[in-house]
This record gives sequence, structure tokens and C-alpha cells, in this order.
Amino acid sequence: MNAQMLAETTRAMLAEGKGLLAMDESNGTCDKRFADLGIAQTVAMRRAWRDLLVTTPGLAQYVSGAILYDETIRQATIAGTPFVRVLQDAGILVGIKVDVGAKALAFHPSEKVTEGLDGLRERLGGYVAMGARFAKWRAVINAAPSGAHLPSEACVRANAHALARYAALCQEAGLVPIVEPEVLMDGGHSQAHCLEVTEGLLRHVFAALNTQDVALEAMVLKPNMVVAGRGCAVQVTVEAVANATMLCLRRVVPAAVPGIAFLSGGQTGAQACAHLNEVQARYGDRSDQSQPWSLTFSFGRALQHSALETWAGSGAHRESAQRALMHRARCASAACIGRYDASMEL
Ligand code: G3H
Repeated sequence: MNAQMLAETTRAMLAEGKGLLAMDESNGTCDKRFADLGIAQTVAMRRAWRDLLVTTPGLAQYVSGAILYDETIRQATIAGTPFVRVLQDAGILVGIKVDVGAKALAFHPSEKVTEGLDGLRERLGGYVAMGARFAKWRAVINAAPSGAHLPSEACVRANAHALARYAALCQEAGLVPIVEPEVLMDGGHSQAHCLEVTEGLLRHVFAALNTQDVALEAMVLKPNMVVAGRGCAVQVTVEAVANATMLCLRRVVPAAVPGIAFLSGGQTGAQACAHLNEVQARYGDRSDQSQPWSLTFSFGRALQHSALETWAGSGAHRESAQRALMHRARCASAACIGRYDASMEL
């Protein structure tokens, strides 16, 4: 493990006023989003979309790193420049999703465990050689399907173990691991249930990280915000989301962790920015000893969705889609320094 390199990468990922662009959808997920908008689900169209994203002029002003998918890290622009080189030349760090997806957990219908540990050491070596500086692994936790009290201990422990094994392998390879345990917004569960589940999950994740000797100083946590399930009749205020989210994180995330980069999880761009902004405005003062972490974004849908809708697969809309991406990136950047407000959406 090269501690100095990991520290430099972590610092760069968490540069003030910047966050991460998650553009690491698997082919299946990317195709599903394309299908919803009538875009052809082909390698060429996925490449054209990722080309549009990485070549957006000025993106580095708001984005410190981009998380790529295995197909994307190997691709080049239409002009023939590798995406990795385009990002590096712009001053954007290259990240890579290294899990191979969430698979059904035996004996636990409706729960999943993320796979990808077999052969991971060798795959990480390949990604480092391609220019990656950080990695991502996402565990998905179902909070409350069909009224059952979920998640099960089996699901939480299996996912925490896998996240910790992944994180240790990343650090060994010289990559900063983004540790992403996500409690899904799907379902009718209350915000209080989301808080309980997120807190319990994070406790298990940090216990597992410690067991595997992961250097907490050289990782980034990517959690969900503590929100009510999408189907819950009682939705809570922006202030309540910020308060519950920070209550949860302060209870369980060690001060040694340098940064927390929130996922958007299906929130709209405006919702995700309002929540991040409130977290930052209320709790972001780093001179306050109780607030040890950089707080930023690692958004996928909340950054990409409006741009994808604008593009809709047409080269004629490429520049307007890049403007839409820049708008969302500007809003997210403002939110991570507590300077976002709804008037930016007009
Ligand atoms: O793994 C999921 C992505 O990294 C974040 O995507 O912001 O749409 O939840 P999201």
C-alpha cells in the first residue's frame, strides 16, 4: 500500500467545492435508462453518451473524479482519444466500479449480496495500469419490502464483509476505495426506519472494515441520505433529512474517515442538492470539532438525468445536453459548500 499516493488521491477526490460524477451504470442499467427514453440500447450509443459526458467543457470546475464502468474505461471518443486520457487531461481523476452486481442472497428472498471478490486482485491491477486512481463497490440493502422487517442480519453481514474485503484489496493495489452501502429508497418505510437500518448497516460496515485492517484515512464513504421510503405517506422536510442524516453519521462514522460523498439514490437533482446543501449549511463547519469529514456528492442520476433526457440519443442535442449536465454539476457544487438555493433551478 502506498499511503502517500492514497492520501493524495483522497485529497484530490475531496477537493473543496467538487464532487464525483457516477457514470458507472452497468450495461443493463444504462440500457434500461436508454429504453425509458427511446434511445437505442447499443454499444455505440452507450459510447456516444459517455463521450458526451466526459468531453463536457469545464466539467472539472465542479467534478473531481468520474466513476467509470468496465466497458467505458476501455473506450475512446469518436475522435479516438481514450476516455481515460480525456479525463486525465481535464484534471478529473478516473474511478472504476469493480463489483459485478448485486445477486440474489440464498434463503433471503428480496435481498441481495454484491459479488465480485473472485479474481478482484488481478482485475484491480489491470485497472491501475489503465489509469484508475479510485474504485467503487455498491451494496444494496432493501429496507422494507412486503411489510417484513428488513434487512436481515445475513444480508447486512454478507454485504459488510464483501465491502471490507474489496476495500482492503483496493488499498493494497493503490486505489482509494469508495465504500457504498446503500439503503434503497424503494418501499413505504418511514424515515425513522431508514435511520435505524442505515445506522445498523454502517455499524456492521465499519466493524468489518476494522476487521480487514482497512485504513480509514484512505477511503471515502458513499452512503444514502436518511429519507423516508418513496412510497411512505409521510415525507419529511429538507431540514429533517439533514438532521437525521447527520445524527446517523455522527453516531457511527469514525473521525478518521476523510470524506463522505452522498449518493442520490433516485432523488431528483433538485432534491439531492437541497438535501446536501442543508447538510452542509447546518453541519459543514469544519472548524467545529464534531464535524470531521468533507461532505460532498457522488451523484449518478441526480447529475445525469436531465442531460440524458435532453440528449435523447440525438447528436443534434449534444451541446444542450452538456449544458444540462453543467447546470446540475454547478448546483451540486454549490450545495457541497452550502451555497445552493432553489432559485438556481430557474
Ligand atoms: O451506485 C450508484 C451510483 O454510484 C450513484 O447513483 O446517485 O443515481 O444513486 P445514484
